[in-house]
Amino acid sequence: MAEINRIVILTGAGISAESGIDTFRSEGGLWEQHRIEDVATPEGFARDPDLVLGFYDMRRAALSKAEPNDAHRALARLEREFPGELLLVTQNVDDLHERGGSRDVLHMHGELKSALCASCEIRSAWDAPMSATGGQRPQCPVCQAPTLRPDVVWFGEMPYQMDRIYAALGAADLFVSIGTSGGVYPAAGFVQEARQSGARTLELNLEPSEGTHFFHEARHGPAGQLVPRWVDEVLDWN
Ligand code: NAD
Ligand code: APR
Repeated sequence: MAEINRIVILTGAGISAESGIDTFRSEGGLWEQHRIEDVATPEGFARDPDLVLGFYDMRRAALSKAEPNDAHRALARLEREFPGELLLVTQNVDDLHERGGSRDVLHMHGELKSALCASCEIRSAWDAPMSATGGQRPQCPVCQAPTLRPDVVWFGEMPYQMDRIYAALGAADLFVSIGTSGGVYPAAGFVQEARQSGARTLELNLEPSEGTHFFHEARHGPAGQLVPRWVDEVLDWN
């Protein structure tokens, strides 16, 4: 394997599946229980904020019962022991990478444990329900307006830190996609960006994703088994 100095990793809902967090498009996933347009779009939030706030309150509460799994912990070990540059980008809004030990995680779709105020547009750490209680929506910790929304990127909104992601993809030797169906852009296009920059590309997923044919190599199985083995390989190379 050629010298690997710069790795970009993209994770999706599949890395948290073995922690008991619902994915979106697998059997019984979130999008079978809720319509995307009702709970994951700005229009849905404007139409029925309490429905949307309740949806994210439910997902935030489910987080407290979930634990990071061996895949999260393996990526944290890679961050500690890999001598080169590593960028971990996740589409997930859960905090399992951080609780698994990763210190630098780029949440391109935002985070359940963060609140965005529609009035002052400042983000605050948030781990409580955001739905109205007694008719009152919680106040923004900064400006006290009752206009908090989940700090989550919805369909039609721009994901966060795209410049940083594309710069890292342009310089990467290796791009690894873990637990994502490869059907939602712009994340689904990262593999092509990486290939154009000459990087090797590897897919680790339960089954072939929609973009599996773009990858030089694809391994299929549970992330909890595939990711620790792959991290051992990378650390043995270096
Ligand atoms: P989208 O996948 O519908 O489209 C994103 C962009 O990529 C659009 O401009 C679309 O035209 C383009 N695109 C879609 N399919 C393509 C293809 N096959 N080839 C080339 N281009 C293609 O996503 P969106 O509705 O724009 O959502 C924006 C962001 O919000 C995405 O990153 C999405 O992952 C995110 N999101 C987050 C949540 C959440 O709950 N966190 C939910 C939904 C969407
Ligand atoms: N190990 C590895 N992969 C798994 C596992 C597992 N244990 N369980 C499921 N998977 C795979 C599935 O095969 C599927 O390809 O994880 C993928 C999950 O795909 P989605 O449910 O579509 O989740 P994701 O790809 O993260 O969705 C992308 O779309 O709805 C938006 O913003 C939302 O971030 C989300 C984005």
